[in-house]
Amino acid sequence: MKIKNICCIGAGYVGGPTMAVIAQKCPHIKVTVVDINEARIAAWNDKDLSKLPVFEPGLDDIVKGARDRNLFFSTDVDKAIDEAEMIFISVNTPTKTYGKGKGMAADLKYIELCARQIARVSKTDKIVVEKSTLPVRTASAIKSILDNTGNHVQFQILSNPEFLAEGTAVPDLLNPDRVLIGGDTTPEGTKAVNALVEVYENWVPKAQILTTNVWSSELSKLTANAFLAQRVSSINAMSELCEKTGADVDEVAKAIGMDSRIGSKFLKASVGFGGSCFQKDILNLVYIAKSYGLNKVADYWEQVIIMNDHQKQRFSDNIVNTLYNTVSGKKITFLGWAFKKDTNDTRESAAIKVADNLLSEQANISVFDPKVVGERVYADLDYLKTRTTEENRRLLNVCKDPYQACNESHAIAVLTEWDEFVDYDWENIYKSMKKPAFVFDGRGILNQKTLEKIGFVYYKIGSGID
Ligand code: UDX
Ligand code: ADP
Repeated sequence: MKIKNICCIGAGYVGGPTMAVIAQKCPHIKVTVVDINEARIAAWNDKDLSKLPVFEPGLDDIVKGARDRNLFFSTDVDKAIDEAEMIFISVNTPTKTYGKGKGMAADLKYIELCARQIARVSKTDKIVVEKSTLPVRTASAIKSILDNTGNHVQFQILSNPEFLAEGTAVPDLLNPDRVLIGGDTTPEGTKAVNALVEVYENWVPKAQILTTNVWSSELSKLTANAFLAQRVSSINAMSELCEKTGADVDEVAKAIGMDSRIGSKFLKASVGFGGSCFQKDILNLVYIAKSYGLNKVADYWEQVIIMNDHQKQRFSDNIVNTLYNTVSGKKITFLGWAFKKDTNDTRESAAIKVADNLLSEQANISVFDPKVVGERVYADLDYLKTRTTEENRRLLNVCKDPYQACNESHAIAVLTEWDEFVDYDWENIYKSMKKPAFVFDGRGILNQKTLEKIGFVYYKIGSGID
């Protein structure tokens, strides 16, 4: 079966970049990305490419080349479903904030709404592809909704988890380590799997396209993220020990990373991992393990999250302790708010928790991030409901200029590893700050020797606090 029309429901960090790349690589396929959020769709259609709702290096060029040729962004969900032979579901699956599984299980209400809409609208057979991270066996729930509420058309459900990392979405999509496609092992299932394999074969070598059963595919996504997050929590656990013993965590990471069995990636100690996937997927894994009565398995993975929470807490505690046990009324500058560099995404960013802790100590915070807008920063804090929106706005100020953010500040905390921070005029920043001027480098990106020569008191996560 040759696919000519693809529809993607959800124009977010996954759906937008993924469909842009499919459209670029498959000019013979019409790709329509739909979303119920009108502002988001308008931003995807904006002539000014700097207004795209998702910031990813290289994405603007790809959108420019394919948009209105075979890549379309629209709010007309029904029409796009009706026209497509293949429908990707890329809506958000946040952790549940209510009821059973609260704080752990994935909230599937958006997925269910999508499934019901697909069932209602479809008049021809469809291949439905799960793109969002979903707990194991979601495909069967989608299938049940489609088969029981549909117009007796045939649906095939595939799982095709996204492994792109934000900030490197474009290169990750253009050169994926592997593409994973899970489907039913029935003849119809195999046909659907092959149809999707053919789409990817337009640019991905066949050897890198793996096909499995649906459940293996769903579980592989959770497993990949759990393993990656576990590496970060493992090196972060070591960072605390380094600080006590005088070892330097970067030196330790380098030494172990050269062991080919371990490898060098995901060993950068930090103030804690963030992002829309790691925490959510591990909590999901924990919830699934518990629901099968596998308590030891659940505890094992939960520890990865506990370690991550601890790392954020310990970073803010260290700031308070070092500033003579009080930050009340002191100005503290945050360089970075995004959960990592090269993205404007702030979901689960360590900066949010660190700010919340310091605001509870009545600090005044000035935030500068090259790509995150002020409203996003306030929305992240307001969501915690620790204090009123007025208080958040009174205590925290978002600056458009990094030098202004640092002016008269007692301490700088580096929360995101943006490259530009390294090149700032640190001499001038030092001059404008209260003395002693502290830097708490939660990403280990700044040059300790240079900063100390200027006069800063410099603390790096995972090295010689004493
Ligand atoms: C992750 C997975 O990498 C991707 O395959 C999956 O599809 C979605 O989840 P993402 O959340 O975009 O991608 O970012 P990632 O690069 O994995 O980083 C996650 C967090 O870990 C970030 O906050 C990052 O700063 C932190 N991190 C990563 C570290 O602290 N140290 C490291 O060595 C690596
Ligand atoms: P991700 O990182 O998984 O891409 P995002 O939150 O960035 O998550 O994007 C998910 C998008 O899905 C949002 O823009 C949201 O408006 C959209 N969405 C959620 N439910 C529906 C729905 N039923 N129909 C269309 N779009 C939806």
